[in-house]
Amino acid sequence: MRRKLPLYNSIQTATTPPGKGMALPQVMGTVYIETYGCQMNVSDSELMAGILSGIGYYLLDRAEDADVILINTCAIRENAEEKVFHRLQHLNSIKRRKPDTVLGVCGCMAQHLRQQIIEAAPFVDIILGPDAYRSLPQAIHAARSKDPFVGLKLDRSEDYADLAPIRKDGVRAWLTIQRGCDKMCTFCVVPFTRGRERSISVPILAEECHRLVDEGFKEIVLLGQTVNSYQAGKHDFGDLLVTLNQVEGLKRIRFTSPHPNDASEPMIEAMANCDKVCQQIHLPLQSGSTRVLQAMRRTYTANEYRDLVAQMRDRMPNLSISTDIIVGFCGETEEDFQQTYSMMAEIRYDSAFMFKYSDREGTLAHKSLTDDVPEKVKIERLQCIIEQQYQISHQINQ
Ligand code: SAH
Ligand code: F3S
Repeated sequence: MRRKLPLYNSIQTATTPPGKGMALPQVMGTVYIETYGCQMNVSDSELMAGILSGIGYYLLDRAEDADVILINTCAIRENAEEKVFHRLQHLNSIKRRKPDTVLGVCGCMAQHLRQQIIEAAPFVDIILGPDAYRSLPQAIHAARSKDPFVGLKLDRSEDYADLAPIRKDGVRAWLTIQRGCDKMCTFCVVPFTRGRERSISVPILAEECHRLVDEGFKEIVLLGQTVNSYQAGKHDFGDLLVTLNQVEGLKRIRFTSPHPNDASEPMIEAMANCDKVCQQIHLPLQSGSTRVLQAMRRTYTANEYRDLVAQMRDRMPNLSISTDIIVGFCGETEEDFQQTYSMMAEIRYDSAFMFKYSDREGTLAHKSLTDDVPEKVKIERLQCIIEQQYQISHQINQ
């Protein structure tokens, strides 16, 4: 049977601690959580808020006021990490004024850069990876006794399915259905920071969905690193969509991000037939050159991706498609880049997230390929596709 951590009272998410006379459980302290990176991190921060609320912590929205400051971080590109190091220096100034403040670095960067954090920010009290949030109460307790806490064990059985996140009120709720990634794209640090893939069962997710509707949410966004490789027992992603589509009161279902290789017929059928599933897909291409895709280990060719898009548009003529693109990957020639540029023009994405390649320590590309496209060329290529995409998006919007 599913167990939920007790949530005492919604007032615990108030922006200020309760006043005198309010009958509430013992207040253990106040916490401020700052989130960087993807929606999965937003969802993880909600999970951390739930864990801490369950032991009597109030969530505040200003770092300056909180007893505990947690930074939930991203490791996907170098600039994401630089931003956090910069922010940590600022947060240390709060600690200098209020020495009892506990400062924690959580999430992917904690997992990826433990040693660098210890060296560059020795004032950090807690370092917790994505599979270690259950030990937050213990970590804070240790840190409050001036005992730094490091929790970085990746645990392929950890799915947090029994814990209740605290979500901001609203229309849209993030729902993590799968954690980790088994794909091993050569440029990507996620398999190393988030560990192996695991999915939460259909009945648990359906129950959570009912609960979200009861709380007033109208839309859910299913989250996973390769959300459509979802597999829980004999149920695949298509089955999950069909099941959640039957949840009464729910209006819309979205999901992010699917992997082209897992875009199976049942998934496409479910998307086309389920009235609540939005006709929208974020389908990361990364590169329009099959040679580069192979070096990235994306496991599809440019033509296979084209065929998939054609098949989906055939079934769903109004399908809106967005994507992720990386320019300047190891060994990318001008010709490879031109293939990306023209493929983007051919597919005409509604929108795109575009990045220049950032070499990440620990990845397969870092170990066995050379980051040989000059920075200047990476920037030029990036500007080139951004400009083209800007015009395409503009035309589609009109
Ligand atoms: N499957 C995940 C991918 C997470 S990373 C998801 O879609 O949720 C998001 C995007 O960041 C990737 O699709 C890729 O385009 C980009 N990215 C990942 N590693 C990168 C790197 N080393 N350099 C530049 N961009 C990267
Ligand atoms: Fe990263 Fe590729 Fe997985 S981009 S998250 S290794 S699908």
